Amino acid sequence: MIKYRKMRMGDYKDILELYKSSEKIVLYSTDDKKGYKLFLTKNKDMCFVATDGDKIIASIQGATDYKRGYIHHLIVHEEYRKKGIGKKLVSLVIEALKKLKLSDVVILVNNKNKSVKSFYKKIGFQFLTVNFGYVEW
Ligand SMILES: CC(C)(COP(=O)(O)OP(=O)(O)OC[C@H]1O[C@@H](n2cnc3c(N)ncnc32)[C@H](O)[C@@H]1OP(=O)(O)O)[C@@H](O)C(=O)NCCC(=O)NCCS
Repeated sequence: MIKYRKMRMGDYKDILELYKSSEKIVLYSTDDKKGYKLFLTKNKDMCFVATDGDKIIASIQGATDYKRGYIHHLIVHEEYRKKGIGKKLVSLVIEALKKLKLSDVVILVNNKNKSVKSFYKKIGFQFLTVNFGYVEW
């Protein structure tokens, strides 16, 4: 049975493995264990996993700057896709944001990731095209 719970510090190894199973998840140096712990400390009520028994089969990292919400690294294990799990994880983040009276959610999606764009459109997100770059210092 699929269950949902908040992400924990001890989940890092399993979640990293899940991320690495998809080329669609682009990992940065800030996705190391230290970055994960910091992110989770700051956003502990907005990060969730789905489990099947002991196994983590999906995860989402939500965050907020208290102006709007952000979603990072949503992933559902290949064998569990198209069962409503991704949608449920997004809804958990939205519920957490609503408690803070926030209604906007920003998701940065690679324009070439057609499947994730279809997914977000299907669950009601509106697409804004923004060209942006990183500024290094
Ligand atoms: C995108 C992803 C999270 C979707 O998860 P999922 O659990 O399969 O999605 P759901 O089952 O909740 O789907 C919700 C709706 O979107 C639709 N949908 C899901 N994937 C879709 C796809 N690839 N193309 C078109 N529609 C899709 C479903 O059919 C469903 O529609 P319905 O409510 O009318 O039945 C999953 O495919 C994934 O992990 N992809 C790889 C990682 C990735 O790209 N992450 C995003 C990084 S920004």
